[in-house]
Amino acid sequence: MSANVYLARQNLPASEPHLAKIERSARLAHAIVDDLMALARGEPAHAEPVAVVDLVLQARETLPEPGADFEDVVIPPGLQVRAHTGLAARLLHALYENSIRASAPRRAHVVTTAERIASTTDGGKHDRVAITVADDGPGVPPEIAGTLFEPLVSHTAGGTGLGLALARRITEAHGGTIALVPTAKGATFRIELPAT
Ligand SMILES: Nc1ncnc2c1ncn2[C@@H]1O[C@H](COP(=O)(O)OP(=O)(O)OP(=O)(O)O)[C@@H](O)[C@H]1O
Ligand SMILES: [Mg+2]
Repeated sequence: MSANVYLARQNLPASEPHLAKIERSARLAHAIVDDLMALARGEPAHAEPVAVVDLVLQARETLPEPGADFEDVVIPPGLQVRAHTGLAARLLHALYENSIRASAPRRAHVVTTAERIASTTDGGKHDRVAITVADDGPGVPPEIAGTLFEPLVSHTAGGTGLGLALARRITEAHGGTIALVPTAKGATFRIELPAT
């Protein structure tokens, strides 16, 4: 928003696109704050059936430059989770943002997979969906791998270290899990959320 205010001031008559971006960002910030306040008050996430594909697309709406090349494998293609749509998209957004920042100035290649994991004990009532996000960047620095999901842990210039702490808070509010998966190359995160 600050960057767009600056650009709008440079040329007031041509400021409309910047004002529109500021308005969009303000609305998004408002929605995120509302959701976070609800989480902080301990309200259970308002969960509804939502397609993983829709979450993934929403998560990619406002990503930083230079962006990423995305490859998706969702099995089956109509796979759904029970989740608060805005928060779950926010969680994936945090992962994509990290992959892009870690790989910059190179453009990251990010593979997202999602598949249903059957529960063997209860006839499908507690099935889960496992979502993995794997990039081909430099990987998570080993010295922070153990504390990654704690607030204010950051190894990135300009990062606040809130993205993954928030991601964990969101998954836990859904009764899910999030973890860094050990890999030889790049960084891979695995999330589990309740299936519908
Ligand atoms: N995909 C990734 N590849 C390499 N390092 C990563 C990746 N994701 C996270 N990290 C490391 O973990 C740190 C913490 O990530 P987190 O998202 O919590 O905070 P941040 O990105 O630094 O700041 P914020 O998300 O609040 O803007 C990052 O600073 C980075 O060092
Ligand atoms: Mg981040």
